[in-house]
Amino acid sequence: MNHQPYSRRREFVLDRIGDGVAIIPTAPERLRNRDAHYPYRFDSYFWYLSGFPEPEAVIVLIGGKEARSILFCREKNDEREIWDGFRYGPATAAEAFGFSEGQPIGTLEEKLPELIANHGSLWHSLGHDPAWDRRIAAALNTVRADSRSGARAPGEIRDLRALLDEMRLTKDAHEIDLMRRAADIASAGHARAMHACRPGMAEHELEAELAYEFRRRGADGHAYPPIVAGGSNACILHYVANNRLLAGNSLVLIDAGCELSGYASDITRTFPVNGRFSAEQRTVYEIVLSAQQAAIAAIAPGASFLAYHEAALRVLAQGLIDLGLLSGTVDGAIESEAYKPWYMHRTGHWLGLDVHDVGDYRRGHADDEWTRLAAGMTLTVEPGLYFRPGANVPDHLHGIGVRIEDDVLVSDDGCTVYTNAPKTVAEIEEVMRHA
Ligand code: GLY
Ligand code: MN
Ligand code: MN
Repeated sequence: MNHQPYSRRREFVLDRIGDGVAIIPTAPERLRNRDAHYPYRFDSYFWYLSGFPEPEAVIVLIGGKEARSILFCREKNDEREIWDGFRYGPATAAEAFGFSEGQPIGTLEEKLPELIANHGSLWHSLGHDPAWDRRIAAALNTVRADSRSGARAPGEIRDLRALLDEMRLTKDAHEIDLMRRAADIASAGHARAMHACRPGMAEHELEAELAYEFRRRGADGHAYPPIVAGGSNACILHYVANNRLLAGNSLVLIDAGCELSGYASDITRTFPVNGRFSAEQRTVYEIVLSAQQAAIAAIAPGASFLAYHEAALRVLAQGLIDLGLLSGTVDGAIESEAYKPWYMHRTGHWLGLDVHDVGDYRRGHADDEWTRLAAGMTLTVEPGLYFRPGANVPDHLHGIGVRIEDDVLVSDDGCTVYTNAPKTVAEIEEVMRHA
């Protein structure tokens, strides 16, 4: 375990909170039914600052002249380790993950008042978990009740997320490396699904190809519920049933990404089930692909977050005019939002530990106050067109839904698309050509 990237982030937080105290719990385990739990997923903020995988753990960072970083975690337990596997235990965990101290999680509640007493500010994700809000309030009240012995409760309660979200928005080298690896695995999964696809297969069979490739290559699993949507199911933006048969003359849209060491990839590809685009499918596909290329060209340091959405929108609006669905000008269509029946979502989002990652999109309320892109930010670019039956479209376009999504890193002089699943019509038809 190389704890340096995580320790560096803790040092940064300690530097920012002055003589304050920060408390960062990981996520609880959640019961699925009876004795079975959902697969455990740590809290992203906790992971960002520790890389520590066990549940029942809390980071306490104590700022000031005698700064300390304490990891509270489960103690060693022979019986539980026989059933559930290895536990580090506080001392070994502190050593392995670079904390100045390790303490048993069972002692946290009792120690919390003395840990926060006589520090100016307390930093926490207020409102995230009512149980934690109660614990913090109880600790503050305990300190206040003890004021005659000279203890002072922190006068300032600060939301730690404001600080951590800003840090997480710009990825460091360690994160970029993990995100590139997650993207490579997810790209291979999409290529595998394309290669395996045959008319008459079920959507869940393609989902299985993705899962196989993700796990085979060491990803933790899916980063979010995968969408495998044949035909008009592609027009349901969050379709996750994945249980229908794939008609040979339709397209299939797959939106799936894997998670690796906590980091998400997020890729969408749309391809013909029979391996060859029809003329109509190809026309729509090429419009969305051009929109994506225009959006990517608008991503560079200093550009507003909105700029790439606007660039995609112009190409999509022109495409809708060319298809005869809109009349008038591109500017007019954008002004009136006449494109919305067929393109109703934004062109992307921040990507990181969370698939819709943290970080402000706006810095203020004025139109020109969108966040400016900077090197190290990662985002998705995912334009689409959705011609669901009944949405005022001619018969020959009915049921065509296309989205193309890639993951992009803002670089010093532009951007890098770091996902690499087959994408052009020629590339897709080549992968799908069966010997
Ligand atoms: N897969 C979720 C999204 O594309 O935003
Ligand atoms: Mn997606
Ligand atoms: Mn996305």
